[in-house]
Amino acid sequence: MSVNAVLILGAGPRVGASVAQKFASSGYKVAIASRNGTGAKTAEGFLSLKADFAKPESIPALFNAVKTEFQTAPSVVVYNAASLTNPPDKDSPLSIPVDSVVSDLNVNTVSPYAAAQQAVKEWATLPKEARKTFIYTGNILNVSILPLPVFHNLGIGKSASAYWIGVADANYSPQGFRFFYADERTEDGKATGAAVDGAAHGEFYAQLASHEGNVPWHATFVKDKGYVQFK
Ligand SMILES: NC(=O)c1ccc[n+]([C@@H]2O[C@H](COP(=O)([O-])OP(=O)(O)OC[C@H]3O[C@@H](n4cnc5c(N)ncnc54)[C@H](OP(=O)(O)O)[C@@H]3O)[C@@H](O)[C@H]2O)c1
Repeated sequence: MSVNAVLILGAGPRVGASVAQKFASSGYKVAIASRNGTGAKTAEGFLSLKADFAKPESIPALFNAVKTEFQTAPSVVVYNAASLTNPPDKDSPLSIPVDSVVSDLNVNTVSPYAAAQQAVKEWATLPKEARKTFIYTGNILNVSILPLPVFHNLGIGKSASAYWIGVADANYSPQGFRFFYADERTEDGKATGAAVDGAAHGEFYAQLASHEGNVPWHATFVKDKGYVQFK
């Protein structure tokens, strides 16, 4: 049987760690990347890579590192990093410096786009039976414009990413490549916010990677329930 690998871009103690553990327990080789990456294996045996997603040009080298280590490109790519900037004037979203808007947009939208672009190239080299899947960790901000200056850059990035992910899924799913904007919600459809559940992400992302259950690109989900559509 061929080896499957997952590359998790932005892996910290909450969502990233749980997703890594879930895929490892499902038999995947796991690579994680963040600014604190070490270039070595973690105690769990994950390949830890160093990168700053404010610089989208750092993405291709991560795919090369995975191929060198695991002798295969990742069939599953999870983009989990996110960035925002507090407005210097807390009541004024337009006080955020342009440089910070650009940098946060790179983290929230341009680097995941670069990763998806790289993934599509690499997936062409993988066996037909591998389930090629790109999962972006989103939140409610793509469908809900909150009048809170602190979420300004995060909302710009999540909204823009939802757009290209929807377009990518429509165009590549006929050839078996799936793209998901995953957004954990409470039972009544509200943002989970600080109560975000890492293990629930792990369970749901493993289901998304199986391509089972007919889940659309806008993959809103609830812990212990899986995909739930919210109007
Ligand atoms: N559904 C919801 O309501 C909801 C609620 C909360 C969070 N979320 C989403 O969940 C995702 C994960 O959040 P989390 O807090 O659980 O994350 P996490 O997996 O605990 O950590 C994410 C990691 O991304 C890395 N990262 C951040 N900026 C980076 C950069 N510029 N370059 C490289 N790596 C970077 C950080 O590691 P380093 O410091 O080592 O770089 C961070 O530890 C985010 O996309 C967030 O928007 C959704």
